[in-house]
Amino acid sequence: MSFSDYFNEHIPSVESFHPHFDEALGWILKAGGKHFRAQLMLSCAGELGMKNIHEAYPVALGIELIHAYSLIHDDLPAMDNADLRRGVESVHKKFGQTTAILVGDGLNTHAFYEISRCELSYKKRCKIIEILAKNAGIKGMIIGQAIDCEFEGKSLNEKKLRFLHEHKTGALIAACIQIAAILAERKHKKEYHDLGLDLGLAFQINDDIIDATASEQDAGKPVAHDIAKNSFVNLLGLEGARSELKSLREKIIKKAAKLGVGVSIAELMQTYIKG
Ligand code: IPE
Ligand code: IPE
Ligand code: MG
Ligand code: MG
Ligand code: MG
Repeated sequence: MSFSDYFNEHIPSVESFHPHFDEALGWILKAGGKHFRAQLMLSCAGELGMKNIHEAYPVALGIELIHAYSLIHDDLPAMDNADLRRGVESVHKKFGQTTAILVGDGLNTHAFYEISRCELSYKKRCKIIEILAKNAGIKGMIIGQAIDCEFEGKSLNEKKLRFLHEHKTGALIAACIQIAAILAERKHKKEYHDLGLDLGLAFQINDDIIDATASEQDAGKPVAHDIAKNSFVNLLGLEGARSELKSLREKIIKKAAKLGVGVSIAELMQTYIKG
């Protein structure tokens, strides 16, 4: 079974007499998304030698649920105030803010529920949960998102901007490669994480370039929305951001090849991090 079929069969659902909560739970998941983080984790685990890759599907699903929750909250009026996501109305626009907050909370906890009861060894499950909780939590994505919102309209220098991007986006992407290494029983887990931070930074610079250059239809979300945000495009200009991304891509390719994930990362960057 492909991961995408597995994902569609495991969209979270809850029966109750609530008029629309169940529809809201699946809203953004059914709308699509690239599944970049799941693909990254599965492809790196395979390249590093994991045999039964389908055993990693619940983990890949969990990662995508955490990511989806972060998008639902990111779109709220209190954060980026975006009405469009994955080409459809964002969850709060369609179902209201109360439901959007609770759907986000629900997907976040459901991710850990799915991972905790999967068929991997107890030791691997615990380690994966620890890595995800750390990188999606206060030491990772959360502090990144907090800084992103707090410093809207207030310019950060390049060092602080890197900190922001490496946390809000890099940490979860770094967790994907680190988890792949655990699944494939590899050493040097920290080097995989460091590689992921670079890849996450590249992913976010690319996302900032999309905001500045793409159409709303192609992006599936509002564009020219980052005017007051700290982004590489706002700091260095579009060409500056593109050249930063180019050198970062070269550095990533070299590091990835050394760590045995060169093919997966080169392919994913070619598809999703074009600049
Ligand atoms: C968007 O992530 C948010 C960022 C961290 C840049 P994606 O570009 O992976 O969004 P989907 O999952 O494909 O919708
Ligand atoms: C979001 O970054 C990062 C998250 C942790 C959700 P953005 O705010 O740039 O993501 P988009 O552009 O709305 O997808
Ligand atoms: Mg944001
Ligand atoms: Mg946003
Ligand atoms: Mg963006």
